[in-house]
Amino acid sequence: GFQPLVFSGIQPTGNLHLGNYLGAIVRFVAMQETHDCIYCVVDLHAITAQLVQPELKTQIREVTAAFLAAGIDPKKHIVFNQSRVVEHAELAWVFNCVARMGWLNRMTQFKDKAGKDRENVSVGLFAYPNLMSADILVYRATHVPVGEDQKQHVELARDTAAKFNNDFAERIAALGLGVGEAGGFFPQPEPLIQGPATRVMSLRDGTKKMSKSDPSDYSRINLTDDADTIAQKFRKAKTDPEPLPTEVKGLEGRPEADNLVGIYAALSGATPEAILADYGAGQFSRFKQALTDLAVDKLGPVGAEMKRLVADPAYIDAVLKDGGERASLRARKVMDDVKDIVGF
Ligand code: ADP
Ligand code: NA
Repeated sequence: GFQPLVFSGIQPTGNLHLGNYLGAIVRFVAMQETHDCIYCVVDLHAITAQLVQPELKTQIREVTAAFLAAGIDPKKHIVFNQSRVVEHAELAWVFNCVARMGWLNRMTQFKDKAGKDRENVSVGLFAYPNLMSADILVYRATHVPVGEDQKQHVELARDTAAKFNNDFAERIAALGLGVGEAGGFFPQPEPLIQGPATRVMSLRDGTKKMSKSDPSDYSRINLTDDADTIAQKFRKAKTDPEPLPTEVKGLEGRPEADNLVGIYAALSGATPEAILADYGAGQFSRFKQALTDLAVDKLGPVGAEMKRLVADPAYIDAVLKDGGERASLRARKVMDDVKDIVGF
């Protein structure tokens, strides 16, 4: 079979928040204990929604700093930014010719981001999932830790890999490039959507996910927020008038309370049952104070280390250069085989 390999990415499109941290970065850190991992700052994706971004380079460094501050080891694993490795764009072009318009038309993230103005969004925004498939498959990665919102895109990568393997089955076999019993060239990458915070919701609206692009600053906790800001944001977090329930089933139909308990569970490692045993039936304000203390305790050191690293851009750029060189070697080998398979 395929060698197990983890790949995932984060866009350098602004403030990293608690959702990115719990849904993705914490998982990235955990995976490196058991797997070979490649973590990418996906800067090519960052220009799909907005082309001109004077802060792009700073934001690339910030996401890199967050990876390192959270505990990703760039020596044992690979950390780099996507635009350094041309093979991502090269394979994405092939995938533009493998994936079908109908598949991309069904992507809910495109529908959300394009809204009603479909005629006037970039072609890149529409084709974005093919680039993401290429990000994963140009390393023949097998595992993709992501938040819930990315599940559909990883499924598209699976469909694209399967169609490529099927369309070129004879070529792959003739060249001896198939792997395992099924004899495909690309693996079926598996989304790893795990833990209690795979979809952290906005603090202002329990029905929307916490997002970098939400215009309300109070909707999210940023990784670099100081203790006072974290306290203020949790104090203002929307809740219903009922006290916390004493049992988990009492969270049903109460998205804001459920979200805050989920955040507490993810940050502390405690189960929702144990949390509600402590805080159920009590004042929301007491729980929010405990949540604030916990978040400050967990995020404070990460934010401080991020700030320290960002102050040393030469170091960050050296990490990205080294990671990019190591990633290129692997991607080139796969892309050379893809060219043989396609017949270039
Ligand atoms: P954003 O969606 O904030 O613009 P990205 O698209 O760069 O961020 O996503 C980076 C990673 O963070 C992805 O794995 C994504 O699934 C995860 N993620 C983003 N928002 C959340 C959230 N609210 N809860 C859990 N995970 C999230
Ligand atoms: Na996202």
